[in-house]
Order: sequence, then structure tokens, then C-alpha cells
Amino acid sequence: MTTSERHPGHAPGERQAAVEEDLLDRVLDSFSDCSDPRLRELMEGAVRHLHAFIREVRLREEEWKYAIDFLTAVGHITDDTRQEFILLSDTLGVSMQTIAVNNEAYRNATEATVFGPFFVDDAPEVALGGDISAGAVGEPAWIEGTVTDTDGRPVPGARIEVWECDEDGLYDVQYGDGRTAGRACLYSDDDGGFRFWGLTPVPYPIPHDGPVGKMLSAVGRSPVRAAHLHFMVTAPGLRTLVTHIFVEGDPQLDIGDSVFGVKESLVKTFRRQSPGTPAPDGRQLDDREWTRARFDIVLAPEEITT
Ligand SMILES: [Fe+2]
Repeated sequence: MTTSERHPGHAPGERQAAVEEDLLDRVLDSFSDCSDPRLRELMEGAVRHLHAFIREVRLREEEWKYAIDFLTAVGHITDDTRQEFILLSDTLGVSMQTIAVNNEAYRNATEATVFGPFFVDDAPEVALGGDISAGAVGEPAWIEGTVTDTDGRPVPGARIEVWECDEDGLYDVQYGDGRTAGRACLYSDDDGGFRFWGLTPVPYPIPHDGPVGKMLSAVGRSPVRAAHLHFMVTAPGLRTLVTHIFVEGDPQLDIGDSVFGVKESLVKTFRRQSPGTPAPDGRQLDDREWTRARFDIVLAPEEITT
């Protein structure tokens, strides 16, 4: 019986530790001829941390096998519209940590948050003041704001991509019928202004009928995300911003967001409007409530010198 079998989770003896160190050294040495220094750094770092994890938790062989089966299942369920690897990364906080590393706070620039698995390239363009819902059902929300740089200068022509789920908590791609709804792109005007009709965001569970859902359930975690509306904003010479706005008063903000995406600065007031309140663009909503929110976007420079 080995030391680790007698004392699972405990540090190995000196001889065993030497065996483990030797293996790690040999794997690290195997990258010594790599001509790409960044690739070598990434591979060495990944191996060092993976080996450290295995040795710290004294990984059992059946657990290693389980992990391989789990990752295989994550791959099998993934296709063009279901991205289980992003869900896995999101739920482990890996996405938010990568965002944190790459989007260091800069002056008054708007904070970034997770990209999520539901972005689609080539969303239809809508004119300023247009409606992105395109048949997605939910409470109308008027969203307006400006895009500026960190010196307060307007950014005209910024490409603003927005996407969100419907009131049932589903994105268009989840219906599997090829519909495009609840997503669009628009461009800021000469003053950096933008405005559009969307839906008041609602909390929704990330897809949890696959391996990631099984993992969340096994560890006693909820798959529910705080209500949000996604944005990706791009403009020449400025850092691309991937973010959301969240809804002030959403109880899920206190319960917790399943992908750790909430930042206080991104929580916005969706002011509730009673039926019949004149909308900013003259739209008449006589028979239902609607909301309006403001989101002023500040883009950091592309190259930040600190
Ligand atoms: Fe989302």
C-alpha cells in the first residue's frame, strides 16, 4: 500500500515526491525545443498547474477517468448553437478571470463582463430607435445612451451589438428553428448617441440539461443568471467592450449569478412606465407597462500605457 493510499489527500513521502517531481521535470523539459516562446510558456504553465492539482488532491484513477468522460460529454453536446465549453468556462469563473486579466480597469471606462454562449455573428442591423425583439416575446424596454471615449468625446459610428433572451428565458438559437429574434446591431449617431427598443431582461437558467448542468447540480449550485442584456461595442482605435447591463431590483442579484458576471457599475435602473405613458419615439403602449433604461458606454483606448 502506498503512502497516498493510506493517507488520501495527505502529502506523499520524500521518495514518492521525488518520483512525482521527476515526472513533472521531464514533461517540462519536453517543451525545451519549442520555437514559439509564448506557446512554450502556455504549455509549461498548463502542465505545472495540472500536475500541481493532481498532486494536491491526490487524484484517484477513477476520478481521472470521470474527468475524461465529462470533457468528452462536453464536446459531444457542443455544436454550432450549443457551446458547452463556454458554459463550463463561465460556471467555473474562468471566463470572468480571463476578462479580469485582459480588461484592467482604466479610468472611467465601462467594465467588461462575460461574452456568454449565445452571440451570433451577422445579426440584422436595425436603425436607431428600431426594435431588436423581432417577434421575441416580453415586456418592451426602451434603451438609450451614448458612446464616448474616456475623455468624454462622442464616438460616432460605433458598432453596437445587442442580444437577449425572451420572457421565457430562451435565446432565439435555443428554439432550433432558425429564427433570429432579440438580437441586432446598430451604429451610434454623430453625437455618439444610440437608442432602441428591446425587452426588459429576465433571469434565466443557462442550459442545464447537459454535463455542465449535471456538474452544477452535483455541487448544489443554481444555473440561474441574473437578468441582463448583452452588449458588444466596437470602434476603431478603442478597446472592444463586451459587457451586459443588469436590472436594479432583480432578486437574482442577491441570490447570485451562475457565471459570476455581475459588476455593480453595470446594474442599471429600468424605470417602470405605466400603460399609456408616451414613449420617447411616439410609440403608443396603451395596454401594457414598459420600462426604460439608460446606459452610457465609455470605451478605453485600444492601447493602454500605464
Ligand atoms: Fe445572456
